[in-house]
Amino acid sequence: MDDELKVHVVNHPLVQHKLTMMRLKETNPKDFRDLLAEISMLMGYEITRDFPLQEIEIETPVARCRAKVIAGKKVGLIPILRAGLGMLEGLLDLIPIARVGHIGLYRDPKTLKPVEYYCKLPTDVSERTLIVVDPMLATGGSAAAALTMLKEHGARNMILMCLVSAPEGIRVVNREHPDVPIYTAAVDDHLNDSGYIVPGLGDAGDRIFGTL
Ligand code: PRP
Ligand code: URA
Repeated sequence: MDDELKVHVVNHPLVQHKLTMMRLKETNPKDFRDLLAEISMLMGYEITRDFPLQEIEIETPVARCRAKVIAGKKVGLIPILRAGLGMLEGLLDLIPIARVGHIGLYRDPKTLKPVEYYCKLPTDVSERTLIVVDPMLATGGSAAAALTMLKEHGARNMILMCLVSAPEGIRVVNREHPDVPIYTAAVDDHLNDSGYIVPGLGDAGDRIFGTL
């Protein structure tokens, strides 16, 4: 992999195995969605690994003791529509009290530039750690635009979580948002002339929702 890319690759064997099942062209939308939800939960486990803990006093059936809980961290989950929705359920299972904001962007098929069509966010994004999710980081245009929109709404602390990334997209986010760590399950080879990740898994939104 290119040394200059700043990215955390989640190499857990379960993640890698499930991703391979998703890449298969025969995988149907239901299995694709289930696998994406499972991988999202596993990646969420990695991303939250460094969340700070605090000790509180509790009473078990046997004794009083001090025990650890997450230190008041407020989390926001931000799926980029549509395909990002496929990563929401697994993360919400992990962090059920997270608030959810939606950003609607689609990639113009000719220019490959992102076009915004929706934005609805929790009012207190500036106080939350936001996990921005989209399965595909291709040219990076959509992710970079979403992160910019969130910063314009006051966001200060963000993590980008993608399933499959192209080096091109990682470079764009590293350059435009050096403060935002990227987590991905794979860094693929390159983009083709239509802006698709190679080998990738095709159009994530179409495969999730069966709109091929
Ligand atoms: C896909 C994907 C990302 C974007 C990635 O969405 O889910 O949002 O493309 O490409 P980029 O890095 O070159 O911007 P798409 O525009 O196909 O919309 P959809 O999720 O509604 O299918
Ligand atoms: N969007 C997708 O869904 N897949 C790609 O390979 C690139 C962009």
